[in-house]
Amino acid sequence: MSRPSWSSVREPQVPEDVARLLGTVPEWFGQPESNAEYVEAARSKKTWTVRDAAGRVVGVTLVDRHFPHVVEIHLIVVDRAVHGSGVGSAMLGAIEADARRRGVKLLEVKTLGPSHPAVGHARTRHFYEKWGFLPLEETDLWGEANPCLIMMKPLVGST
Ligand SMILES: CC(C)(COP(=O)(O)OP(=O)(O)OC[C@H]1O[C@@H](n2cnc3c(N)ncnc32)[C@H](O)[C@@H]1OP(=O)(O)O)[C@@H](O)C(=O)NCCC(=O)NCCS
Repeated sequence: MSRPSWSSVREPQVPEDVARLLGTVPEWFGQPESNAEYVEAARSKKTWTVRDAAGRVVGVTLVDRHFPHVVEIHLIVVDRAVHGSGVGSAMLGAIEADARRRGVKLLEVKTLGPSHPAVGHARTRHFYEKWGFLPLEETDLWGEANPCLIMMKPLVGST
């Protein structure tokens, strides 16, 4: 696998990579409308990628910068074929290191909350918690059927 890298210049194939990766994990990303929004977001948001030995993108993370002190993980998705092999961790590690260098104080992510029974998302929350994200609040931002858990990782005073 390549080390995670980011591009500020638009890479025209990245939206296609996002669509392909989302297609490998329909249990997490099964809504065509929101998938289309993620694909569109890949045209403008800062994008981190990991590639396999053949140069194929196997992981993508899109980030937002709502305020100078916070970086939000807008989307993180890893090709199902390589889940559990460190791709997601490599991206979060690189994003966190970059954020610290830029003086960012908080990392934020939103995911499906624990009041929803989806087993896959329980693993996703475990992934974030392992990375030091703390649950902040479960809200109905995405409607009652999809409880939204806001998670934060403070970067000040932590390593
Ligand atoms: C969540 C995700 C980004 C993690 O990336 P990854 O490369 O599979 O994970 P890593 O190998 O870096 O880290 C492994 C850790 O994550 C956990 N994990 C979470 N989801 C996992 C999954 N689907 N498959 C394997 N491990 C997963 C593992 O349990 C492991 O922790 P442990 O060693 O304590 O058991 C990736 O599995 C994925 O794309 N999942 C589906 C989409 C998703 O959940 N996106 C976020 C929606 S908010």
